[in-house]
Amino acid sequence: MSQSLVEHLSHYPELADHATQWRHPFAPDALAGKTILVTGAGDGLGAATAKTYACFGATIILLGRTRNKLEAVNDWITAHTQTQPVIVPCDLEKLDVATADNLANSIEETFGALDGLVHHASRLGPKGPIAHYPFDEWQRVMQTNVSAAFLLNHTLFDVLDASQRAGVIHTSSSVGRVGRAYWGAYAASKFALEGLSQVFADETEVAGRIKVFSVNPGGTRTAMRKEAYPLEDPTTLPNPEAHMELYLLLQHPIDQDGAATEFATGQQVDCRDWAGTLRTL
Ligand SMILES: NC(=O)c1ccc[n+]([C@@H]2O[C@H](COP(=O)([O-])OP(=O)(O)OC[C@H]3O[C@@H](n4cnc5c(N)ncnc54)[C@H](OP(=O)(O)O)[C@@H]3O)[C@@H](O)[C@H]2O)c1
Repeated sequence: MSQSLVEHLSHYPELADHATQWRHPFAPDALAGKTILVTGAGDGLGAATAKTYACFGATIILLGRTRNKLEAVNDWITAHTQTQPVIVPCDLEKLDVATADNLANSIEETFGALDGLVHHASRLGPKGPIAHYPFDEWQRVMQTNVSAAFLLNHTLFDVLDASQRAGVIHTSSSVGRVGRAYWGAYAASKFALEGLSQVFADETEVAGRIKVFSVNPGGTRTAMRKEAYPLEDPTTLPNPEAHMELYLLLQHPIDQDGAATEFATGQQVDCRDWAGTLRTL
């Protein structure tokens, strides 16, 4: 990584630590002029994605459930980058068509287009056998993890399509690719999210302006991981910033030397072995 990029990220040491190993050194203004909406932006992978994209010049729409968490990320971005985010407090469990339409209209009026949409927000729900899985929890997990993602893709389609290149990233899970006992609605919802990702990718491939991906981050040091594995030592896990080179590359497949590394739209990417799935143009 160039010295200038090290200095550029000096206010974000967790990211700078990983950036020293990046194979794709991004220009400091790689995402300048882009507007990207991140769901679940108040915590974990969502907060890291929002801060990382802002460090590279993107204007971030921070969507999440807990206002004070969004405000903390907003304050960090405002203090440490040249960009000014927008906060959208929103409980995705209650997202309806009218609210999503209002969001789409506001983005259209303010920015004209949306250049990226990252679906991180997710509900884990209880772990237990299907035989005992509560139906109300099934519905809450499905609404948050799948129906809300569909509704955002659906209502934001026109603003995404107005971008020259819009990256839509669905954050999935290992249990969304191979089913595992006791993961209930969470696993089923991630399988559905993978399906949504592939259908959306297929529908938008010919026009070529919207690129759609699913990403499995694998075990990562966040609150959700702690909820799923309370006895695990979190220090054995990578932090969210470990995955940010990939999340950057999916929004901006060009490094500072002008080399392009584009993933095929619709691709299922696994953070732990993404180097092996790259297609260098
Ligand atoms: N960490 C891992 O090991 C791991 C592994 C595989 C996949 N993933 C996936 O990675 C993504 C990010 O999770 P994370 O690990 O970063 O967990 P996290 O730190 O717990 O973040 C989850 C985020 O989702 C938000 N959220 C939950 N329900 C919501 C709702 N109804 N409306 C709006 N926002 C809501 C949370 O908001 P609040 O903060 O307000 O609760 C939080 O910001 C998820 O899609 C998860 O399935 C994580």
